[in-house]
Amino acid sequence: MKKRVALLGATGSIGRQAIEIVEAHPDLALCAVTSGSTPLDDIDAPLKQVGGDLEGILDESRPDVVLNAVVGFAGIHATLWALEHGVDLALANKESLVAAGELALAAQRRGGGRILPVDSEHSALFQCLEGRAPEQVDSLVLTGSGGPFRGRTRDELTEVTTEEALAHPTWRMGPKITIDSATLANKGLELIEAHFLFGIPYDRIEIVLQPTSIVHSLVRFRDGAALAHLGYPDMRVPISHALTYPERAATPLAPLDLTSLTLVFEPPDLETFPMLRLAREAGEKGGSYPCVFNAANEAAVAAFLEGRLRFLDIAEVVADALARADGAPARDVEDLLEVDRAARAIPVA
Ligand SMILES: NC(=O)c1ccc[n+]([C@@H]2O[C@H](COP(=O)([O-])OP(=O)(O)OC[C@H]3O[C@@H](n4cnc5c(N)ncnc54)[C@H](OP(=O)(O)O)[C@@H]3O)[C@@H](O)[C@H]2O)c1
Repeated sequence: MKKRVALLGATGSIGRQAIEIVEAHPDLALCAVTSGSTPLDDIDAPLKQVGGDLEGILDESRPDVVLNAVVGFAGIHATLWALEHGVDLALANKESLVAAGELALAAQRRGGGRILPVDSEHSALFQCLEGRAPEQVDSLVLTGSGGPFRGRTRDELTEVTTEEALAHPTWRMGPKITIDSATLANKGLELIEAHFLFGIPYDRIEIVLQPTSIVHSLVRFRDGAALAHLGYPDMRVPISHALTYPERAATPLAPLDLTSLTLVFEPPDLETFPMLRLAREAGEKGGSYPCVFNAANEAAVAAFLEGRLRFLDIAEVVADALARADGAPARDVEDLLEVDRAARAIPVA
């Protein structure tokens, strides 16, 4: 029997690479594909949907695994659907886990859905942690490239253009996550994602820059050992890992040529990139603060991409939204939708 894959966000950067993985693997089959507005004519799948409610097509397609590759909070219902229904969730859509947080974990406890991370750092951590008892783990180290503006000062970022911010040094991705990588909001979202995925407190999750994106993350253990996950920056590896778990199917990638590499690590600059500090504060405060962080960031990034906001103002908008919010925990999805809506309503221009 083939594993039935519902691919949400099939027309995006992750979506297209996922199709490549599914087509190359004889035991995987698409049972449904969706997009926000792009036509799906060139994709072969029994069920297709452009726009609309994602839960309906999930009910109808009966997937074994949902690959949530939608961008942004729009992926929330699909994440909760998979967790509630006990269906494997291959999670690229980090925003839904960040925003839903405890609500997502409660849905997972009720439904038993397993989360298989697609974010490369979390896939790395998942693999380094696999089979280890929690008490053996000392801390997690999330790595990041630092984005296109690593090494710059705030003064040098006042006038940066969308084109410059979209020129990521190591990864080719959709526009929203590429801007998040330039502000380091992406690493902030990943910090909160790691906290919820692995149940590790924030003070035991460190962020370190590794500019060539070869080391995808590390786990430090209590005996002093650190296990790292290395590989070329290519999302087909974590996508394949999540879709074929625990089989670890072959991919067409070249093996890592170690003698060609020099690995350099450095701390992130929190002065120049305040989004990382704001994300950590939002995560530590808990409640609905991570949802506010995510929503305000989405609104600000959209405004920046449309030329209505300057690069450095993205963090200002998010700081403002966090300062205005009461952070009360969302009791249910309706509460969460309201928190998300209110945080976006803050004027960004
Ligand atoms: N790209 C990467 O390498 C990478 C790495 C790690 C994690 N991620 C995460 O993976 C997710 C997808 O990223 P991406 O780079 O693939 O984004 P992307 O290229 O912008 O693709 C986003 C996908 O979501 C669909 N979509 C957009 N708005 C939607 C809505 N309101 N309802 C339903 N579908 C909607 C898009 O459809 P249309 O084509 O119709 O707009 C598209 O298929 C993000 O959460 C990102 O953080 C991405």
